[in-house]
Amino acid sequence: MNTDKKREVWSTKIGFIFAAAGSAVGLGNMWKFPYVTGMHGGGAFVLVYLLSVIVIGFPIMVAEFMIGRNARQSPVGAFAKLGGTRWWKLVGWLGVASGFIIISYYSVVGGWILDYVVKSILNQFQGSSVSQIEGMFDGILKNPVRQVGYHALFISLAIYIVKGGVSRGIERWNKILMPALFGILLLLVINSLLCPGAKEGIKFLFYPDFSKITPAAVLEAMGQAFFSLSLGMGAMITYGSYLGRKADLMNAAVEVCILDTMVALIGGLVIFPIVFSYGLPPSAGPGLFFKTLPVVFSKLPWGGLIAFLFFLLVTFAAITSAISLLEVVVSYFIDEMNWSRKKASLLTGITIFIFGIPSALSFNILSNLALLGEKNVFDSLDFVATNYMLPIGGLLIAVFCGWFLPKKETTDQPGNNGKNFYFYRGWLLVLKYITPVAVSIILLQKAGLINF
Ligand code: PFF
Repeated sequence: MNTDKKREVWSTKIGFIFAAAGSAVGLGNMWKFPYVTGMHGGGAFVLVYLLSVIVIGFPIMVAEFMIGRNARQSPVGAFAKLGGTRWWKLVGWLGVASGFIIISYYSVVGGWILDYVVKSILNQFQGSSVSQIEGMFDGILKNPVRQVGYHALFISLAIYIVKGGVSRGIERWNKILMPALFGILLLLVINSLLCPGAKEGIKFLFYPDFSKITPAAVLEAMGQAFFSLSLGMGAMITYGSYLGRKADLMNAAVEVCILDTMVALIGGLVIFPIVFSYGLPPSAGPGLFFKTLPVVFSKLPWGGLIAFLFFLLVTFAAITSAISLLEVVVSYFIDEMNWSRKKASLLTGITIFIFGIPSALSFNILSNLALLGEKNVFDSLDFVATNYMLPIGGLLIAVFCGWFLPKKETTDQPGNNGKNFYFYRGWLLVLKYITPVAVSIILLQKAGLINF
């Protein structure tokens, strides 16, 4: 096992915040949040989502940072070190498995975005009709060689950055890519709000129709909160393990949660006004993002350039998240197997690429292969990882930090004085009693073991 002395660290506080926000802000915000919101009826789903962020997401994020920082180990080693028994190590393992599965299909979606970057460079959206743009996306899905090729390209970029190390790879790239993303997002939301369907879009996103809340929607909202905040699999434990002793975890978690939620809501505000302006169905599913946005780009005066910038920035958001997923797996091999960073990045990256191929083929060659019910490989992996693996991982992390870590370890934190004292007390209470109960009820209800 690597010793503390050799451990890499973030070089600046803001570098850590950008890296953690970079992990959180990704395809989950821009691609997934709008389409799951669309499929579950809009405003009411958003409300349950916000509640999940406050009651479940935020407390678990602080817990993950704390476990990582206290142990200065990646998840498997962290649970072994702090947990005492072998059993807790399994939680770390569950995290590594979740990271492995998620990045395998996340990279396929990252590939679609890269394909769109190329399309925008070739100016293919300009002057195209709505149905032509829909056809473009379906064309990508139907082409196996293209799917696998772009999947390979995307994962190679992630491998390249992770191979560079914590401060010179992950931190350096996040500091450049994240501010650029925020800037372009602002421009796009202004443009969307000027669309004729803006009012309807805003109403869809913020007006809660409670008849739309089903147990499935609640499970999905909670899963989405875990996915979007990068929780339940140890990504934040891993990033926390590169923190210095003095960092204020509570502040960092508040900042990351707010940034992530804002980007998700702004993502919705970019997409739904366009959806309603052009009469597209808000419940279109995974294709929503890929079929709606180019429509508006095709109509704008500088549309070609804006499309290019936008897809480039979404690529950045996706990459900064993908590297945190990969880092969980890579840091396991560095910490526990004593592999060099280079060897760990390359070998795990290539294995993940191979494992992701069936997801890349889910829309063409393997489209008839159903794993869970009607779901293809891609959707099945996403469903199990997001709705079950992350919440179960998060539940165990909350129980571990709230009930098993000595109280001194959880409340004796830098910055825990004056006003913050009550924050820490409050946080611990929520983490011990409310978060685990809320997650358990949602999981049991969905599994049919309890009924309301
Ligand atoms: N939070 C990322 C997103 O919203 O796209 C995805 C993700 C990254 C999930 C890291 C989980 C994780 F550990």
